[in-house]
Amino acid sequence: PSSRVSLTVNGKRYTVTVDNRTSLLDLLREHLGLTGSKKGCNAGACGACTVLVDGRRVNSCLTLAVRLEDAAVTTVEGLAKGDQLHPLQQAFIDQDAFQCGYCTPGQIVSGVGCMQEGHTGSAEEIREWMSGNICRCGCYVKIVRAVEQASG
Ligand code: FES
Repeated sequence: PSSRVSLTVNGKRYTVTVDNRTSLLDLLREHLGLTGSKKGCNAGACGACTVLVDGRRVNSCLTLAVRLEDAAVTTVEGLAKGDQLHPLQQAFIDQDAFQCGYCTPGQIVSGVGCMQEGHTGSAEEIREWMSGNICRCGCYVKIVRAVEQASG
């Protein structure tokens, strides 16, 4: 069975009909063409698919799209304002906080969530609250520095 769902993604309203089993991640990537959010494990273990739903961080691979009627979703594509990068995007560049880059969109969205939640008081706190985001290249030290820089 499929259902219709209307939601806002990065400030734009969409109404789509999807199979009831469709994840938010697949909705974003396959139906809306927003491929910034990445599919790593597709099982809630890596954080590459992290997006904000009504301001809260979620693993979009574990979230059913049809449950999101009227939700406001923010993906990595929605963070910059025109040509102006989000301060955390700029900080990732400044701190060289990636190698392969696959986890980066999820890391950045998670870091933005962390900043909004006020969990950036110390490097230890950032590490704790970003612990759901795995980086196989092991860039954790620089990722934490980037969140510290953006939290200023
Ligand atoms: Fe969603 Fe890994 S792809 S947590």
